[in-house]
Amino acid sequence: MDSLLIKGGVPLHGEVAVSGSKNAVLPILAATLLTAEPCRIRRVPHLSDVRFMGRILESLGAKVSADGDGLRVQAKKIQGVGNYSLIRKMRGSVCILGPLLGRLREATVALPGGCVIGARPINLHLKGFAALGAKVTIEGGYVHTAARRLRGAELFLGGRAGSTVLGTANVMMAAALAEGVTIIESAACEPEIVDLAHFLSAMGAQITGAGSPILTITGVPELHGAEHEVIPDRIEAATYAIAAAATGGEVTITGARADHLHAVLDKLGEAGVQVRRQGTALRVRRGARLRPVDVTTLPYAGFPTDVQAQMMALMTLAPGISILTERIFESRFMHVSELARLGADIEIEGPSAIVKGGRPLSGAEVMASDLRASAALVVAGLAARGTTRVSRVYHIDRGYENLDGKLRKLGARIQRVSES
Ligand code: EPZ
Repeated sequence: MDSLLIKGGVPLHGEVAVSGSKNAVLPILAATLLTAEPCRIRRVPHLSDVRFMGRILESLGAKVSADGDGLRVQAKKIQGVGNYSLIRKMRGSVCILGPLLGRLREATVALPGGCVIGARPINLHLKGFAALGAKVTIEGGYVHTAARRLRGAELFLGGRAGSTVLGTANVMMAAALAEGVTIIESAACEPEIVDLAHFLSAMGAQITGAGSPILTITGVPELHGAEHEVIPDRIEAATYAIAAAATGGEVTITGARADHLHAVLDKLGEAGVQVRRQGTALRVRRGARLRPVDVTTLPYAGFPTDVQAQMMALMTLAPGISILTERIFESRFMHVSELARLGADIEIEGPSAIVKGGRPLSGAEVMASDLRASAALVVAGLAARGTTRVSRVYHIDRGYENLDGKLRKLGARIQRVSES
């Protein structure tokens, strides 16, 4: 397993390019199962989660090959049973259910199971499939869904924490090949859903309302191949903006979509971080001094849960009290105990973390637990005095393309070390 060795205290300077979005490309790759024709997906980030999704598509019978800055996928003949050991390892793979149901009228996929940030149920996904006329059974760790005919329906897809991103993706993909009109109420509005809708429309799907809570899909008999460039990763962009602010540097983030980052940029501004938009670039620098802020994570366009941990790392540096409240997942504070090892003073009160910020951080050995918690530890290590070792870096490789390389280019003293 690799670790990252960081000698902190160096302000980041220079330019960093944002890669394609992990959370857009995973459902888009799944959507290629909806047609027998070849699809070309561009700006695909080099991530372990993406490689994994490629292996899952191949296990179903699709052909997947590298093609310039992306992938070429053709699911000419596929079978609808997902490989248990593969599917279990990456819960994002749950989004193959919808396309398999749409294309084959049946699918058997291992239950994705939970992870450190929460139970990650899929009851809303299954509610959507049932609304389209599919029979859903769960047995032996697998979910099996089948439908003689898929019929459009009007359904409410909101759950305990509001909308579901991959649940919306799954139902939208199944509905694309159903008979008649499907209306999804309380649909997820994330940019990744809009990007998926754009790809599906390029394949011939008829979708309106993407990006709004009311999504309408008029089913068509079949879909054709298409080409699509994935949107830039808004969470990666936010992470680099926060790293720039945390180290007191000045970084230009190129290829970002500022319109996907309103809540984050607004909060960073409140915290005293200066963000200037220059076309598709964001120029980020810390102002005179960081200010404490309160953050509550919400479905889009609210503050994204995937930036909560990184924001918490920044707030440990802001003199005063910041309260970060996590409303999407039930246990997304794994980074708190590790940040405390770097000297942060954080108390958890139910869904909130109370950060007493302003004390300088000092380097230590810390352990990554999940993708965004790991990013938070790297941000904190970059700001801390002395050396920080972040172990279990495979968590980071799931969602950040060449993180240490990109940070080195910005002047960070960061090395990847292999540990037996
Ligand atoms: C997507 O996960 C993202 N993953 C997550 O990013 C992100 O944190 C999450 O959306 C929220 O924005 C991908 O896109 C691959 P949800 P998803 O269904 O779709 C509850 C990262 O770090 N829920 O929107 O699985 C659920 O428990 C990852 O990149 C149900 O109750 O999340 C949670 O509390 C982490 N029943 C809330 O909804 C369901 O059937 C939001 O989950 C489905 C979800």
